[in-house]
Amino acid sequence: VRVFVNDRLVEEHDAVVSVFDRGFLYGDGIFESMRVVAGTVFRLGRHLDRLTRSAALIDLRLDGLPDLRHAIGTLLQANRLRDARLRVTLTRGPGRPGEYVAASGPPTLVISGAPYAGPDPRLASAGVEVRIATRQAVPAQVLDPAVKSLSRLSSVLARREAAAHGAHEAILTDAADRLTEGTVSNLFVVREGRLRTPPSTGEALPGITREAILELAPTAGIESVEEPLSRSALLEADEAFLTNTSWEVLPIARVDGRPLGTGAPGPVARRLGALYRELLHRECGDA
Ligand SMILES: Cc1ncc(COP(=O)(O)O)c(C=O)c1O
Repeated sequence: VRVFVNDRLVEEHDAVVSVFDRGFLYGDGIFESMRVVAGTVFRLGRHLDRLTRSAALIDLRLDGLPDLRHAIGTLLQANRLRDARLRVTLTRGPGRPGEYVAASGPPTLVISGAPYAGPDPRLASAGVEVRIATRQAVPAQVLDPAVKSLSRLSSVLARREAAAHGAHEAILTDAADRLTEGTVSNLFVVREGRLRTPPSTGEALPGITREAILELAPTAGIESVEEPLSRSALLEADEAFLTNTSWEVLPIARVDGRPLGTGAPGPVARRLGALYRELLHRECGDA
């Protein structure tokens, strides 16, 4: 496996960054996860826009970086990746322990890829359990959720808590006890055929999959609305699902140990999941 580090491709065993890198010391960086189908990155432009926005929101200067489209193309070719997951990680570069502000060099860039393996097919067909986390989401006043940040400690802890109860994902709440998103996914609920998801401004990461689902809903005759969700909106939903680049549309079957709706993936999740897969293949030229 070859990895793109800073300005070149290297073998995996040479793909190293400084132990004083600010990503490692402080989680001072951002990332993107992307999906590749038939050798084409799904909505690469949207991912690069989000990366640029994340960088601007944390004042991370992107000067001196190689052209990311070109670097990604080089990586895909070198590893002969056609159906893959890609990760682009950018940090504020090398630093020093204790020096919170000073970054001593250009940003650190790492791009890696691996063959795509979606969620366990049994999970996708039976639906997953989620747990509403006791730990709140990081408030937008602390860190805008639009920043796809490397600082993931509170999410890792929420996810560990969920896993300890046998749940696949944790759902985070805000200070007003509204549901925001999962630790690595966006949340949708369906009630009487109407799709609802929390707004992406100030509440949740503007997921690329979320955006595609909101585009697809009207074509399937499904009305959708972006609005805050209470706990009961999830607990009393007819169905619900999670979205992200690698899970695609992942139905929720149980919440906090209790069945949601019928306790099995519902028709809206199944329909939107199928439409999303068609869209992926169509846009990536593999229809
Ligand atoms: C916090 C959070 N919300 C939502 C998502 C889903 O985003 P996307 O659909 O772009 O993968 C992610 C993806 O990693 C995430 O980390």
